[in-house]
Amino acid sequence: MKSALVTGASSGFGRACVKALIEEGFRVVALARRKERLETLKSEFKEKIHTLNLDVRNQEEVFEAIENLPREFKDLEILLNNAGLALEQKEFDNLSLDDINTMVDTNIKGFLYIARAVIPLLRKQKSAYIFNIGSVAARNPYFGGNVYCGTKAFVGQFSLALRNDLRGSNIKVTNIAPGLCKTEFSEVRFKGDKQKADALYENTQFLSAEDIAKVFIALIKLPSHINVNEIELMPVTQTWNGFFIEKFNEA
Ligand SMILES: NC(=O)c1ccc[n+]([C@@H]2O[C@H](COP(=O)([O-])OP(=O)(O)OC[C@H]3O[C@@H](n4cnc5c(N)ncnc54)[C@H](OP(=O)(O)O)[C@@H]3O)[C@@H](O)[C@H]2O)c1
Repeated sequence: MKSALVTGASSGFGRACVKALIEEGFRVVALARRKERLETLKSEFKEKIHTLNLDVRNQEEVFEAIENLPREFKDLEILLNNAGLALEQKEFDNLSLDDINTMVDTNIKGFLYIARAVIPLLRKQKSAYIFNIGSVAARNPYFGGNVYCGTKAFVGQFSLALRNDLRGSNIKVTNIAPGLCKTEFSEVRFKGDKQKADALYENTQFLSAEDIAKVFIALIKLPSHINVNEIELMPVTQTWNGFFIEKFNEA
């Protein structure tokens, strides 16, 4: 049976993709920090799932856990490198150093540890597939996006560059860059302020985690010779707002 590894499996895109992969006949290694969420997945999917309760920022634990995967989960063909977060939405100079470090350490460094630990296993397969979760924020700067936008631009450019390094390996790489999607993302961003998070999704149509899972599975099912480099998707209700032009007060 084919295996996949999903980071950020306890919520949102990750959890929806774990379920979709299992429906497609994969065994899944599900990684996240929240143990009780992983235990719920384990009790639902039993021997089809192996849980890794760890923080992607912990370099040592990441490499040790992947090195010691059980044999029946070690033949990884798919990596969904998805764990990530935004914190706050305010001017960069008002952002705390803790929040800056957490975003960089998770979305860039933790993301790289996972890729670095998993790629040697993918290389052992006849073919494999890496999905990185970027964001429309990578290419569309918005007020207060600063560090988050930057980390997702990193994911996009790294994904393209990685394709060069994987030449001849038959490993595909796709950067999936979603727009407005209702998950726990905004609650995390606004540090538990559910009212503020919910306001973003009021009176509009947003993407769901299941929508992302549908696109993810459709990409997996494409003919083996096609590599989709990047895919950007947004709800039909979301478009761009153009440049902000500062106007001076007339004296
Ligand atoms: N929702 C959107 O509108 C949107 C749009 C574009 C891109 N994205 C990106 O999509 C990805 C998934 O986000 P989501 O919308 O599904 O949000 P979510 O519901 O908050 O899920 C985020 C997941 O990442 C995990 N995670 C966060 N920090 C981690 C760490 N240090 N170590 C291990 N796991 C960690 C969380 O698990 P634990 O807390 O249990 O560790 C959780 O499972 C993120 O990279 C996000 O930037 C989201």
